[in-house]
Amino acid sequence: MSSSRPVDPNLVHSIATGYMGTCVLLAALELGVFDVLAEKSLTASETAAELDLKTPPLERLLVALTVIGLLDREADRFSCSPETKRYLVRSSPSYFGDYYHFQVRQCLMPDFIRLGQLIREDRAIMSDDWSSYMADEEKARVFILGQHSASQGGGRLLASLFDFTGFKQMVDLAGGSGACSIAACRANPELRSVIVDYPNVLKVAREVIDKEGLSDRISTRAGDILNDDFPSGDLMLISLVVSGFTKEHQVQIFRKCFDRLPSGGAVVVHDFLMNEDYRGPVLSGLYNLTSVEGVPTSGPDMAALLQQAGFIDPVVKPVIPEYTGMVAMRKP
Ligand SMILES: C[S@@+](CC[C@H](N)C(=O)[O-])C[C@H]1O[C@@H](n2cnc3c(N)ncnc32)[C@H](O)[C@@H]1O
Repeated sequence: MSSSRPVDPNLVHSIATGYMGTCVLLAALELGVFDVLAEKSLTASETAAELDLKTPPLERLLVALTVIGLLDREADRFSCSPETKRYLVRSSPSYFGDYYHFQVRQCLMPDFIRLGQLIREDRAIMSDDWSSYMADEEKARVFILGQHSASQGGGRLLASLFDFTGFKQMVDLAGGSGACSIAACRANPELRSVIVDYPNVLKVAREVIDKEGLSDRISTRAGDILNDDFPSGDLMLISLVVSGFTKEHQVQIFRKCFDRLPSGGAVVVHDFLMNEDYRGPVLSGLYNLTSVEGVPTSGPDMAALLQQAGFIDPVVKPVIPEYTGMVAMRKP
């Protein structure tokens, strides 16, 4: 049945021109605009002098950044908007720019621009399969550095939303940089974690974990979660990966989790989960385009797959609002 809402005359054009905002943000990150304007407001020519650029093209960029809300403007002086200060200035603890610089720019955008072709060829955004992608050391590094920037916030939210009390050993399946393990271990001094992922990914993870001073509590184990056995633990976390697999592979992974857990152990799936009616959240729907072989799945439908593997007592919650969700269940 077609929708009865009134026609929004701006909808199509705002979607079609959305890429311009992305490119403006990426250019500003590349040129260091936000770092220069983090603590002071400058005119276009003062900013250009600090960045060793010509004023007219930079002024065009500053105006574009202002109209999309990434800079504030008072008379002829520009400064960072509150959101930019929090997420795009390198010195901010919530800095997120590396995700856009590494993963969005270098991994996602080149494939999103050829999405039609990929769909025609039954291929996925970014990679036909993870193992060949991560076999390239440089590609793995770029992707995982970007992912780390993105996953730190989600990891902290997960650590606050799931009650880790009583769990001693987490297995962070396809754990990437270890962002979720780091947040969980920081919030729970009794917890240890082992990250399972491909060898080139784990090289980056070990650097990150060392830097965080958590090498004594977070270890790594090279492995393929589809084909290899899992380490033992009382909590299995699978974050931002399982939505990319077919339902058969998802159930296969959940069964392996179930078999490896003791009674009372738990599994947490954090992913781009759809709402029950599959009409949102927007970002889950869009990020599902990066799925290698899966189709979008709602929180309740993911819980039903976990139930097929034997888990009970589903708790389904949003994690990053309007973006990701989690399903936590336990082994009876
Ligand atoms: C989007 S990242 C998410 C990383 C991490 N879980 C997080 O939330 O930040 C997906 C990760 O899954 C890993 N991965 C994908 N398929 C895998 C497999 N079959 N075995 C092990 N790791 C896999 C990738 O190497 C990558 O690190």
